[in-house]
Amino acid sequence: MAVAYLNGEWMAPEDAKVSVFDRGFMFGDGIYEVMAVYDGKVFTLEDHLVRLKRSLEAIRLESPHTDDEWRAIINEAVQKGDETPAYLYLQITRGVESPRSHVYPGGSKPTVLITVMHAPVLERNEITPYKMVTKNDFRWGRGDIKVISLIANGLLKNEALDEGFDDALLFREGELTEATASNVFMVKDGVVVTPPKSNFLLHGITRDHVLKLLAGADVPCEERAISEDELLAADEIWITSTGHEVWPVGQVNDCVIGNGSAGVVWQVVDTLFQASKK
Ligand code: PDD
Repeated sequence: MAVAYLNGEWMAPEDAKVSVFDRGFMFGDGIYEVMAVYDGKVFTLEDHLVRLKRSLEAIRLESPHTDDEWRAIINEAVQKGDETPAYLYLQITRGVESPRSHVYPGGSKPTVLITVMHAPVLERNEITPYKMVTKNDFRWGRGDIKVISLIANGLLKNEALDEGFDDALLFREGELTEATASNVFMVKDGVVVTPPKSNFLLHGITRDHVLKLLAGADVPCEERAISEDELLAADEIWITSTGHEVWPVGQVNDCVIGNGSAGVVWQVVDTLFQASKK
């Protein structure tokens, strides 16, 4: 049963309504988190709470709840939603303001929405490597803030789909940043490489989790810039996100990566990742 929490009230998601004067609607003025629920527990909850606070600070919005309150509300949402696996979406906007103004309203009450929705379960053999296309990353310079305004990400994703690909790999001044809703890893000669954290890409919780798993398994990893030529010559490429976990990429533009199927290092990291969910 899907459930929604809106400003302290519990309801069915289709009954949750916000004002047309909400700054989320008017300005895209808000931030969000997406968390996975496995076996009735939120995966990497503490890391999501840290990023939530970081995003709120970055947009100069005071958190409407303490960490303990967030934990309590989130855990209650998981219990009420009673779905496993599930995705939990948490959105916070700068609240309702009329008439609309670019000036931040003093003392407005943030709007808080949480929804818990059923997540699909995939068998490992249902994971088909993605075909990705490289694109210019024309998004704004604060990709590290998890903002609800995802216009550029949506445009890039849909351009990729229209061109017959599954998603886009984004490059800014010749360097890989991320994909439209995930971080990117490549493997070359047994070394795993991912772009370093910067203001141009989201500091993915899954990215950090995968780096820790690889370090624990003594797989060599580097966080450094990746050019398009280097990426196209990779033995393996994967994307990581809460929804995709670690997903293999078999083709970039017209170039087959490895032999086009999920690679041996992906098998290792996926096994570690699945075990870490327990
Ligand atoms: N997307 N980069 C972007 C632009 C993202 O939107 C996401 C997450 C990631 C990966 O972050 P994480 O590992 O913390 O999920 C990287 C989520 C899942 C979404 O918007 O649905």
